Amino acid sequence: MTEIGVRSAVRGEYDEIQGLFGGAMMFEASDDDLGRAMFEPDRALVATDGDDLVGTARALTRDLSVPGAVVPAAHVTGVGVRATHRRRGILSELMQRQLREVPEAIAVLWASEPAIYGRFGYGAAAWATSYEIDLHRVGPPAVRIRPGEIVELAPDDAAKELATLLRSLQERRPGVSGRSELGWQKRLQDKPDGRGGKTARRILVHRDETGAVDGYALWRGKMNWGPTGPANEVTLEELVAVEPIAYRALWQHVLTLDLAATLQFSYAAMDEPLQQLVTTPTALNRRVSESLWLRVTDVARALGQRQYAVPVDLVFEVADDLIAANAGRFRLTANGPQVRCERTEDPADLSLSVTELGAVYLGGRSLAEFAATGRITEHTPGALTTAGAAFSWPIQPASIEVF
Ligand SMILES: CC(C)(COP(=O)(O)OP(=O)(O)OC[C@H]1O[C@@H](n2cnc3c(N)ncnc32)[C@H](O)[C@@H]1OP(=O)(O)O)[C@@H](O)C(=O)NCCC(=O)NCCS
Repeated sequence: MTEIGVRSAVRGEYDEIQGLFGGAMMFEASDDDLGRAMFEPDRALVATDGDDLVGTARALTRDLSVPGAVVPAAHVTGVGVRATHRRRGILSELMQRQLREVPEAIAVLWASEPAIYGRFGYGAAAWATSYEIDLHRVGPPAVRIRPGEIVELAPDDAAKELATLLRSLQERRPGVSGRSELGWQKRLQDKPDGRGGKTARRILVHRDETGAVDGYALWRGKMNWGPTGPANEVTLEELVAVEPIAYRALWQHVLTLDLAATLQFSYAAMDEPLQQLVTTPTALNRRVSESLWLRVTDVARALGQRQYAVPVDLVFEVADDLIAANAGRFRLTANGPQVRCERTEDPADLSLSVTELGAVYLGGRSLAEFAATGRITEHTPGALTTAGAAFSWPIQPASIEVF
């Protein structure tokens, strides 16, 4: 058996790397110009066995909304190890090297299985609620929509207006990833062989009385004619609205489509406002799962670049088995937009590992939840209450796409 090596990828290797990832995930990688154009070889690692690629992990350069700011975040993706080479430590090698090399203060990913990434210091920082909506029972919001308020756009005309709305969403909700121009092209790409039997994607926008676009929805349909009549299926891919009226109108539109019986939506937030707009929330058929996992790669920089809900001045003792520079005590001082985090020799008020820090970073998890199982320890009475309030955020984090 040859020795396994780990190295950076080179530009021409995209197809082979994507093929390897597809093999691990069990999908057939298709020709993908945009994927190739967006490939960042210096941010892709490969594990080799002789001349063969046997493992890979990539990172994309994107930004992410966090409480009170939009910051750079390594978006980790394309992680896979050839089935013949599993459980020999290849993922561990790839993850350790990737974490050492990440220039951003945080890294994020969606995990195929929740058991994989905790050991590398990632914490589940956001949840996704998926809806399987029974359209006959749900009772959509009642909104009077005037002609011209909701219109369909062609993909080529849509990206610019949609990008503005996504940026507005980032200003309010943590956990939302930004998209480059190429990223938008990829998001709106709609190859017939990628539709899974559904219609082409429909791009809807809502316009306010001045004609400005203040919300959009991406959806597809699938005809399904049952023994008792029409039971079409709607898949909502994304719904972003910056004004309440746009939010209500777009939801009403997709919940009342003729011939449809069900609507599937996988990216609702825990505090999705739709829940209080429908008459029968149980008809949403909600299911919750982890969405964004977050790894703090530079404690002082990461804590210094988000904002806090209440003033705080506390010392955190952080444990990190993989990144030595993260281990130790840090004083976090925040009052409104003034935030500082630096190393200190002062005694700790709270201690925790980098995994819990990642989990609470976006404001969607409670510190008390971790303290109750001994994963966060309070040394100074009251520190847990103050830190819990400071790290919380009025809007729950939500990631609106798997990357
Ligand atoms: C998940 C995957 C990347 C793991 O690669 P690997 O090289 O076998 O992982 P390692 O050998 O480095 O495993 C490290 C540890 O994680 C554990 N582990 C790895 N994959 C796991 C999984 N899917 N579930 C639970 N534990 C897992 C291993 O048992 C090992 O634990 P140990 O240190 O206590 O022995 C690989 O199995 C794979 O490609 N799976 C299919 C594609 C996929 O799910 N990719 C992730 C996309 S987010």
